[in-house]
Amino acid sequence: MPQHSKLTSQIAILGAGDVGATIAYSLIMNPVAGEILLVDPKEEVRDAQVQDLSDATFHGDTSTRVRSGTHKEAGQCDIVVIAAGAKQKKGESRTDLIGRNKSILESAIGDMKPFRQDTILVLVANPVDVLTYFAQQYSGLPKAQVIGSGTFLDSARLRGILASKAEVAAGSIDAYVLGEHGETQFVAWSLASIGGVPLLQALPPGVKLDKEAVAEETRNKASIIIENKGATNYGIGGVAASICKSILTDQRNVRPVSHYQKGLDVCLSIPAVLGRRGIVRTVDVPLSDEEKGLLGKSAKALRDVIDA
Ligand code: LAC
Repeated sequence: MPQHSKLTSQIAILGAGDVGATIAYSLIMNPVAGEILLVDPKEEVRDAQVQDLSDATFHGDTSTRVRSGTHKEAGQCDIVVIAAGAKQKKGESRTDLIGRNKSILESAIGDMKPFRQDTILVLVANPVDVLTYFAQQYSGLPKAQVIGSGTFLDSARLRGILASKAEVAAGSIDAYVLGEHGETQFVAWSLASIGGVPLLQALPPGVKLDKEAVAEETRNKASIIIENKGATNYGIGGVAASICKSILTDQRNVRPVSHYQKGLDVCLSIPAVLGRRGIVRTVDVPLSDEEKGLLGKSAKALRDVIDA
């Protein structure tokens, strides 16, 4: 019988609401950590989520344990996923959340410090790019160790839409949404390909692609879901669990996650190599002049929120 290597790493999740609990559930179903700590000042909700999640650990061969934890314990974990904060309401933009969520972030980081030297912070609360920037300031951790889910979720949505049009598995489509996880995001069409062939040349005969419509559908997907069910949680839950797996197993996947861009002095999403150290390196993708302009627009929009 193959010996299951004992999973020993720890992931703390701040925020025991729908998103935090879904991230925990994804990590239980796809075990990469030995222990998940759920941290939330609403202790009754936190403990109830832990009880409910514990019931899920009996399925599959998951060896992951889940328990309630404190901010101090979180600061000593391998990864801290920060989902704590207000969520978008119908008609609200992600940026509208900055006031509430920035103070929640500052207080949580203050309660976790001092961090273990190699702790990685993964922001998923919104506005994720701006909160990633502030988490780097507040935590004092190396910038490469403070990452945001960014447009990884938007890129997954884009690939899903393209997969159905191209009649190809989403995993075989190379396509990125870059910039802000928000209104100024853009599709880097110049990078999109299937099997190394530029995407627009690799479509089935007779299939036309309305690039603007696809970009719009991708950008608006979250607000349509929020309009109808009140929040999103499964998409971001899977994305956050995937980021944790890339980090803990040092997979070196290339993912469009939000990280610090020195030249722009903001955090936004450009493809980067993800490993145990966090951002191993940015992949300097060759953008078209138009795409470089859109990236600059995204950076300015984020800078304006940071400076407000
Ligand atoms: C979304 C949230 C996570 O796009 O911003 O679903």
